Amino acid sequence: MESTFIMIKPDGVQRGLIGEIISRFEKKGFYLKAMKFITVERSFAEKHYADLATKPFFGGLVEYIISGPVVAMVWEGKDVVATGRRIIGATRPWEASPGTIRGDFAVEVGRNVIHGSDAVESAQKEIALWFPEGVSEWKSQMHPWIYEV
Ligand code: GTP
Ligand code: MG
Repeated sequence: MESTFIMIKPDGVQRGLIGEIISRFEKKGFYLKAMKFITVERSFAEKHYADLATKPFFGGLVEYIISGPVVAMVWEGKDVVATGRRIIGATRPWEASPGTIRGDFAVEVGRNVIHGSDAVESAQKEIALWFPEGVSEWKSQMHPWIYEV
């Protein structure tokens, strides 16, 4: 099944939103496969957001991501990359629908609480970057109650 990389950014951690965010993915019917609480170094944050290196906000984005601990996670489920992005909501919180994480908890684009991979290929790259040790393989006993097969 598909996996995605989700990160609760330093503002989400500082604001006590870890449980709320994990709960939304858990209740939806996705499975947590890996999780770590870490403060990353500048070079690591630059690597994670390498695609945005030419953007004018890149410096501020890197400062933001290294400003405190983050919660890095791998979640698994059917269409979890695209559905995870819908749970998170639009990049700019003022465009994010109420009911999404950014729609409910964020105001500024540079303090938008959470990251989610934008495609299956970027999810694979990000999971390999953040979890080089691999992720746990387990199957939830709830699986037949969430999925038809
Ligand atoms: P991520 O899940 O964090 O990757 O966000 P995204 O995929 O919704 O957006 P994108 O990858 O384009 O941008 C990455 C992050 O850079 C965003 O989540 C914002 O925190 C930040 N960002 C994007 N656009 C802007 C901007 O115009 N100004 C500022 N200050 N930050 C921005
Ligand atoms: Mg992105």
